[in-house]
Amino acid sequence: MKVKIIGAGSIGNHLAQAARRMGWSVAIVDADPKALDRTKNDIYPKRYGSWDDAIKLFKSGAEPAGGFDLIMIGTPPDTHMKIALRAIEENPRLLHIEKPLCTPDLAGIEDFEKLLKRHPGTIVTVGYDHSISDSIEAMLKLAKDGFVGAIQTIDVEFREHWKGIFGAHPWLAGPGDSYLGYWKRGGGAGGEHSHALHLWEFLSVSLGWGAAQETQAMLDIRRINGAEYDQIAAFSLKSEKGGMGRVIQDVVTIPARKWAKLQGDKGFIEWFCNGVPEGDLVRYQQEGKSPMEKIFPKKRPDDFYREMLHYEALLDGSIKPKDSPLKFTHGLSIMKILKQSYHA
Ligand SMILES: NC(=O)c1ccc[n+]([C@@H]2O[C@H](COP(=O)([O-])OP(=O)(O)OC[C@H]3O[C@@H](n4cnc5c(N)ncnc54)[C@H](O)[C@@H]3O)[C@@H](O)[C@H]2O)c1
Repeated sequence: MKVKIIGAGSIGNHLAQAARRMGWSVAIVDADPKALDRTKNDIYPKRYGSWDDAIKLFKSGAEPAGGFDLIMIGTPPDTHMKIALRAIEENPRLLHIEKPLCTPDLAGIEDFEKLLKRHPGTIVTVGYDHSISDSIEAMLKLAKDGFVGAIQTIDVEFREHWKGIFGAHPWLAGPGDSYLGYWKRGGGAGGEHSHALHLWEFLSVSLGWGAAQETQAMLDIRRINGAEYDQIAAFSLKSEKGGMGRVIQDVVTIPARKWAKLQGDKGFIEWFCNGVPEGDLVRYQQEGKSPMEKIFPKKRPDDFYREMLHYEALLDGSIKPKDSPLKFTHGLSIMKILKQSYHA
């Protein structure tokens, strides 16, 4: 398997390491030579123990094109569509685009969708990795088995102070230094923590409620030194079949809380991302009975390894693209909610 990763930042390194764990050949491309240098001498060895000489690094413009099984776009959201338009012309078997798929005004989406029709052999995904975790799978199984009765509401929160995000980007001084501080570029709480919206819709669809149809959003927009971003985004959602719930995303909460809850009429199931030091935690309780817990051990790099296993299954046909939680249409649906919420 040949993989090309565009963007040598925080996510580019995670994707590269996960692909190497699969034994795949990896090329990383970045427009900034400093980022390539940082990957080799700083991020990768610090995170994963040592640099992997099998990874090839290329400055944009000098990279190989064609013949890749997977192309993964791990650059800022406002560059995704432009890069995706070029990448799909290389006919990869799978094109992974990081979340959020694009900017809230959906710039470039129409052109990309047209091109997509001309490349039916390419599977396109958006990198909402939490939706394919084993802990979420277990939560859904309990709900589908009727463990807590009929689900009444779905709640999801992804709340993490900027500090947590900047811990993974020590070379940035603050939100205004990158797309993160600009909602129009796909940053802010809405774009950065859109894992929560994705999870809400994924749970809703999986439980038979259908996609989010109506959304009301309240945003706390801050303007600081030229940056402009929502520090809190609160969404009320109603699904196609009338199921109601809530999503909160913010960049102010310490310690971080990444949580989901399915409230049934006979009990509840809660999911805590990194709820214990060992990994994710699922806690569930039937009314009148004692609570139960299951831990799903993992470290953050394991999430991306699982994503690669998912891609292997998509490529060998054991999972159909239409059944993938990461499918393009699902990632696009989240952007449509954000477009409406920001009035973009
Ligand atoms: N799935 C996840 O959990 C997860 C985690 C982190 C980041 N992300 C997403 O990944 C994307 C990138 O985030 P990041 O934190 O890695 O950012 P980053 O700033 O750490 O890295 C982005 C890299 O892209 C490079 N770049 C920018 N424009 C380019 C272009 N046109 N061609 C080639 N390289 C270019 C930059 O030089 C930089 O090195 C964002 O969309 C973010 O939301 C997802």
